Amino acid sequence: MQATPQTPPREFEFSDRDFEFLRKLVKEKAGIVLADHKRNMVYSRIARRFRALGLNRGEDYVALLAKPNSVELPELLNAITTNLTHFFRENHHFEFLAQQFSAGGRFNTADRIRVWSAGCSAGMEPYSIAMTLCEALENKARQVKILATDLDSTMLDRGREGKYRLDDVEAIPTAYKKKYLHITPHGAQVQTQLRQMIHYKLLNLMQQSWPLKGPFQIIFCRNVMIYFDKETQKVLVGKFAQLLQPGGFLIIGHSENVSGMHPNLKLIGRTIYEKS
Ligand SMILES: C[S@@+](CC[C@H](N)C(=O)[O-])C[C@H]1O[C@@H](n2cnc3c(N)ncnc32)[C@H](O)[C@@H]1O
Repeated sequence: MQATPQTPPREFEFSDRDFEFLRKLVKEKAGIVLADHKRNMVYSRIARRFRALGLNRGEDYVALLAKPNSVELPELLNAITTNLTHFFRENHHFEFLAQQFSAGGRFNTADRIRVWSAGCSAGMEPYSIAMTLCEALENKARQVKILATDLDSTMLDRGREGKYRLDDVEAIPTAYKKKYLHITPHGAQVQTQLRQMIHYKLLNLMQQSWPLKGPFQIIFCRNVMIYFDKETQKVLVGKFAQLLQPGGFLIIGHSENVSGMHPNLKLIGRTIYEKS
């Protein structure tokens, strides 16, 4: 006979009702869909908030969040988001980026270079973009601006600081590490020049209007929309398409698919869409 799975004993009270409240709020505010099986994950992520706030019961946490303009809401969203990322993740996207900006590439002669990392997490994605662009452009003087946005303010702080553990920077090619990082036996920091190419901004993709100026040649929004439902993805894809210049590209994560969501976006490579 199979044993019934047991919920592990909990430090704090957390009822089905509390979970339902949080699930609805997170979907409404951040677009993130929390399936039933995410209950334990949600509990473990918010347990830190209970400790920080000195609370013992889910219903007290719910009451805090239910207040108008609750200051706990951004903290909840910071706690709930999945921030997994690494340097040169899904590397063929960076090979593609390099091709577009290298000699003979579509954007090699552009005077104004604008790339957006939407859902940039701790900065590894925008720094991978910055290193790739510097190499492709061979340090030719250009106006290069990389916009890096996220909903999670703690991730933006980490990105701005540009400090990483030595094992985090292992995925960076050795030549780039020498050129763009300051490495000590205790850790690594991205050099100031590279950090200055990136503008970190708080942006919730669910907010109605995005205070951003396009057009962008390339938008990276990788491993972010996977947490949203199809309807939300479609709205976002429409907004990305508007901000891309004709001939620009939207790049998404390997386990995502937005084919058919916008008439002007055509799949031209693995998870790479071109705007017509
Ligand atoms: C799994 S990480 C992906 C990071 C990076 N793009 C990569 O592929 O390595 C997802 C990021 O999306 C952010 N995110 C989730 N919902 C968001 C929203 N509604 N608006 C903006 N960013 C969001 C999270 O905070 C998190 O940093």
